[in-house]
Amino acid sequence: MSICIVVGTHWGDEGKGRIVDYLSQSGDVVVRAQGGNNAGHTVIVGEKKYVFHLIPSGVLLPGKVCILGDGMVIDPTAFFEEVRLLEQEGIVFQERLFVSEKAHVVMPYHRLLDGLYERLRGKGRIGTTGKGIGPAYEDKVARWGIRVVDLLHPEILAAKLQPVLEYKNWILERIFSHPPLSYEAILEEYLAYGQRLQPYVRDTSRLLYEAWRTGKRIVIEGAQGTMLDLDHGTYPFVTSSYPVASGALLGAGMGPVADVEVLGVCKAYTSRVGEGPFPTELADATGVYLREKGGEYGATTGRPRRCGWLDGVVLKYALRVNHITSLALTKLDVLGGLSMVRWCYAYEVRGEILEDFPMDPSLWPLCRPLYREFEGWNEDISGVRSYGDLPRAVRAFVESLEDFLGVPVVLISVGPRRDDTIVREELW
Ligand code: GDP
Ligand code: IMO
Ligand code: MG
Repeated sequence: MSICIVVGTHWGDEGKGRIVDYLSQSGDVVVRAQGGNNAGHTVIVGEKKYVFHLIPSGVLLPGKVCILGDGMVIDPTAFFEEVRLLEQEGIVFQERLFVSEKAHVVMPYHRLLDGLYERLRGKGRIGTTGKGIGPAYEDKVARWGIRVVDLLHPEILAAKLQPVLEYKNWILERIFSHPPLSYEAILEEYLAYGQRLQPYVRDTSRLLYEAWRTGKRIVIEGAQGTMLDLDHGTYPFVTSSYPVASGALLGAGMGPVADVEVLGVCKAYTSRVGEGPFPTELADATGVYLREKGGEYGATTGRPRRCGWLDGVVLKYALRVNHITSLALTKLDVLGGLSMVRWCYAYEVRGEILEDFPMDPSLWPLCRPLYREFEGWNEDISGVRSYGDLPRAVRAFVESLEDFLGVPVVLISVGPRRDDTIVREELW
């Protein structure tokens, strides 16, 4: 196996960043393939906490090549801020951080419209991160998006920006009674970004092809999660890109090669930030316990995350749409201290058993989760490094999931730090 695709199995924040950091130790190249700075991926090394929004989580490891791939939408302001903070920490990027020329650029009107669209949706709002992600992908599909390569050519940028800004200003003024944005100011700002970006810009799909051809190990770092996928998630409460495994290859500019492992990252319970269905959500004291013990506050927006029991129906669905071949189970330590723990294996809807996640939104409010229940544990497992040393109750929980899914749990994390990891099977 030379490519490992890391995908979130639920609604994001499963702990992908820390798993990517682990895999990168023996990998060579780490690539983000979709999304933008709506992502917040946390890696904790010793007492130091890093949150990555655009830059791949493998960057802390010296010498690893990090790529912002074709399918991303990149806000240059956020990119340079992230570079600055990491450089302050002594991270060196020279000749190992690359940005795809094909990636799209998040413009000021995208950020602005993200908030205005949400206001217009009112009660039906999505609860976006407000980073301009949806409006940037909207322009990409409408074929008047601005790509990274365009920032390198003043005449091309000037010509492309003119009609699109005219249209955006029309919308801003007439629909939202918002003052228009200045063409000259945006052009000047983004040309300056282009100059600063130039040293990073590459044909990254080609770099990845060469890396694959010469036997390098490539980690594709999924952002968001399966249920936030534009096609396969809980539409319209989704993001505007394709966080599933096939989206990872598409966004990296790679084809469906044979030597791929799809590692699903699944939290020992479930969380969601933003609006939309969440059948196993807990509005009770256990929900609060999970949020507080698990530190479930958005890494990008600081919003409190909604928490509930692990949804196995969603997990099984994620297994199928991603072709997941192995699992990483994170935050198992957070379940400690509860008298019993559960995961959901099906929903009951009007007396009928549903084993698949329904895509009919009229059924979402009717889904009553059915649970398998297990005895809890009180031991602090954060120091455990070998699977056999975990309390029996913990192993019963893990193995019940493996039996249900038919896929091995190869990695388990028992604390937020890099070393708080139990490796049951090395992926490479
Ligand atoms: P990502 O978006 O999937 O990379 O996940 P986030 O970084 O947004 O959220 C995961 C949160 O859980 C972060 O605060 C991590 O530091 C933390 N975390 C990750 N793994 C563990 C774990 O095994 N135990 C505990 N207690 N915290 C963890
Ligand atoms: P990581 O990579 C959790 C959610 C937002 C909102 C919806 C659409 O850290 O797991 P957007 O700004 O993308 O248009 O918002 O998607 N969302 C995430 N939730 N983790 C993320 O990323 C998310 N990225 C977007 O909260 O519900
Ligand atoms: Mg996150």
